[in-house]
Amino acid sequence: MVLAEIQADIQAIEQDEAIYQEINFNSRANAIDFIDFHILDRIEGLLQNPEQTEELNILQQCAEKVKSELEKIDSNLFKQLREKIRTGMYTGASFRKAIDQYFEHDVSQPDKIGYDNLDDFINGLLSDQVIPEATMEREPEMVFYQKTPARIIFEIVELADLRQEDVFFDLGSGLGQVAILVNLISGVEAKGIEYEPAYCNYANTCARQLNLSNVDFINIDARQADYSRGTVFFLYTPFEGEILKTVLEILQKEPRNRTIRIFTYGPCSEMVAQQDWLSCVHGEANDPYQLCAFKSL
Ligand SMILES: C[S@@+](CC[C@H](N)C(=O)[O-])C[C@H]1O[C@@H](n2cnc3c(N)ncnc32)[C@H](O)[C@@H]1O
Repeated sequence: MVLAEIQADIQAIEQDEAIYQEINFNSRANAIDFIDFHILDRIEGLLQNPEQTEELNILQQCAEKVKSELEKIDSNLFKQLREKIRTGMYTGASFRKAIDQYFEHDVSQPDKIGYDNLDDFINGLLSDQVIPEATMEREPEMVFYQKTPARIIFEIVELADLRQEDVFFDLGSGLGQVAILVNLISGVEAKGIEYEPAYCNYANTCARQLNLSNVDFINIDARQADYSRGTVFFLYTPFEGEILKTVLEILQKEPRNRTIRIFTYGPCSEMVAQQDWLSCVHGEANDPYQLCAFKSL
């Protein structure tokens, strides 16, 4: 009975022609999730019991084959899109339009929490490199690497109304997705500041492979970086406590001849909101899942 149900689930996916069409990334991502969490996990659980091992092994192979065919469609799609980025076909509005084709509704949904299919799309699109292990020991106040959800990056660009003369900085830039996406969607110069050299190398390789000349990543502690050209800064809680305090003091000295804007996501928003030289122009700083925007006074 259970085996017949699993077989029917695999067949239903196999016979759904729509998910094999390149454009239907979203439905394909849902199907891959279904295979992982409802089919393969279920088979794994049943394999704990030695009965029907042979039939279960066959179903497992079928499910893995369907999953790998779907993943192949995605990897070909990403390869083609990367080539279009590399050759300059997708910049600014055309890049945004290209992304919108693969998602039925607006990609920036402020009320959502966590990652979604847009994150899978962006992860696959930007690079096929293997993600490196961190090599440096972190100080306790330094936060480990975690990506900003992609829809939040789209929201930053929408809210920031970036101009050609803006220079965007991501403080604690990790694998580089924020700066790369901001540059791709808006065209502005984007820089990342990252303590971990392996992440910084990954991000620079990614930018070079996409042929993005206006994006670069600097391997330095955020307390030592040069922010003199920056106009828009982003912090996805890269550090806390004294480090955050020190970096905010450095940023406070910046706006001598210009207004700077700071976008925050995560628990660091609360400390940024306490700065008397900044005014909060968007978001609720006590909600770590809301993007906040601040302006220097
Ligand atoms: C929460 S992750 C954010 C990653 C990236 N901004 C993103 O959203 O994809 C924090 C990052 O900050 C980096 N980091 C922590 N302390 C740092 C410091 N003092 N200077 C520079 N980078 C730091 C970590 O290595 C990590 O990659």
